[in-house]
Amino acid sequence: MAKRTSQWYKDLSVYQIWPRSFCDGNGDGIGDLEGVLSKLDYIKSLGVDAIWFSPLYPSPNADYGYDIADYTDISSDYGTLELFKKVLDEAHKRGLKIIMDLVINHTSDHHKWFLESKKGPDNPYHDYYIWRKGRNGGKKPPNNWLSTFQGGAWEYVPEIDEYYLHVFAKGQPDLNMDNPKVREEVKKIIRFWLDLGVDGFREDVITFISKKEGLPNGFPLPTATGIEHYMNGPHLREYLEEFRAVQMEYDCFTVGEAPMMTPKRALKFIKEDENPVLDMMFHFQHMNADNIMTNFIRTPFRPGYLKKVYNNWQTKLYGKAWNALYVENHDQPRIISRYGSEKYRVKSGKMLAAMYICQSGTPFIYQGQEIGMTNIHLDSIDRFPDVSSVNTYALMKSLHLPEKFIMSLINYGARDNGRTPVQWSGAKNAGFTTADKPWFEVNPNYPEINVEAAEADPNSILHFYRKLLRFRKENEIVRYGDFRMLKTDRKLFAYIRRYQGQKLLVVCSFAEQEMNFRLPESEFDMNSAELVLSNYDFNQVIHNGFFTRPYETRVYLLK
Ligand code: GLC
Ligand code: CA
Repeated sequence: MAKRTSQWYKDLSVYQIWPRSFCDGNGDGIGDLEGVLSKLDYIKSLGVDAIWFSPLYPSPNADYGYDIADYTDISSDYGTLELFKKVLDEAHKRGLKIIMDLVINHTSDHHKWFLESKKGPDNPYHDYYIWRKGRNGGKKPPNNWLSTFQGGAWEYVPEIDEYYLHVFAKGQPDLNMDNPKVREEVKKIIRFWLDLGVDGFREDVITFISKKEGLPNGFPLPTATGIEHYMNGPHLREYLEEFRAVQMEYDCFTVGEAPMMTPKRALKFIKEDENPVLDMMFHFQHMNADNIMTNFIRTPFRPGYLKKVYNNWQTKLYGKAWNALYVENHDQPRIISRYGSEKYRVKSGKMLAAMYICQSGTPFIYQGQEIGMTNIHLDSIDRFPDVSSVNTYALMKSLHLPEKFIMSLINYGARDNGRTPVQWSGAKNAGFTTADKPWFEVNPNYPEINVEAAEADPNSILHFYRKLLRFRKENEIVRYGDFRMLKTDRKLFAYIRRYQGQKLLVVCSFAEQEMNFRLPESEFDMNSAELVLSNYDFNQVIHNGFFTRPYETRVYLLK
């Protein structure tokens, strides 16, 4: 594959697959690559240009694939490397690029490096991970850090009387990126997949890979204590430069996952004319409009906050760096259940789609989002497979919070909400599998919400996504226009994009009740613009504006 010559990633729309729940091809209840093959034409039909695969590698599934036991193979749950090559080939034939998940902050505790590493300090792999002696004669962990998922961030291994660091689950030991040998291994992994023909990487919690020297105690928090000592750590840029050098020998694209990122800090990594180390970043700020810090600490939805975040990222990056746009992924509950309305599912699903895809940046669409899948409701913690749900439940129990309250928070915030099997049809198990039981519960709303039904309904969310993505592809203003937010009521979000004499007006209502939208005459006369997208049939303009209906969206193009 040749060196990168253009910024083709700016024109992309990307579809994310979380393989376990996408489509089961061999009837064992688990999604797989045969399933993916059978749906490539469907994915192409959406109008996207690329697929990002959440990890497909062998994994004991402590964190469903984000604990990798072998970086250069495919999990037998999903198929074989041969089958992956076929998928890659078939995707390329259809003009779909393939983006792999690069998870290098940590491996699985089943990875052969770790198995060697824990044999003791003399083992050549020992220094691949972060091992320390305990404090107080070994009884206390090396520092006060807490993991994001499960209590302490240190696990004691009595055989060698040392602790290893895991900032996520204990089955996810952190790699010691300060060890040059580890960085060489990472480069080998990058080359392996690029040589095979993949087109890019989504880099998992990439901003965590450099830990502060001495691993000092952190500021006490209920979870992730110590994070200030590894988030955007001291050698992060330097290490990413090394990886970038390899990536740029190929026509490769990169997006880095970056918790707690701000636009100002992001520019240090993605500013286009200052030796960027990533093409774009997934920040999290816009996913905090209904919670504080974590999805489990719920607040009412705050549209004012959401708008402020969008405005900030859109204006601060414009002309300097590129945004990654998303509202769902495998770590997030379904967006309609959060920022939209299950009661107005179809209306709000379309509004949310236009709201983020019409902004400047590369849009990512998560499996099932395009048909408006919603959160599942499960009455007992035993029904939640995700380690983060289970451990958050235990943490809240230890604080003696009432069961009902805990379960309402878990139901709202669980990543499991985004991980129920994709609803393909009204058939048994939503057509996801022919097995009696899928690996995780299908949302009982599948007879109503499924791909087959959405295909048949010209007013479905699915057809709206297709229209929207086509509109983005055909109009440079959506991809390259600047961004200016208009002053409106708090529950309205309206912005104008401008490009080469054209103007695009996007109006979105986050309200069920009627809101008054008026476009200042000085902007333009709405009657002279073309209504290119909307989620209601009849669209009048009075006094250069309109009274919004529940979750209404309208997109006008002025040529
Ligand atoms: C990222 C992944 C998430 C995973 C975590 C640890 O946030 O998206 O699913 O649990 O990293 O790898
Ligand atoms: Ca299967």
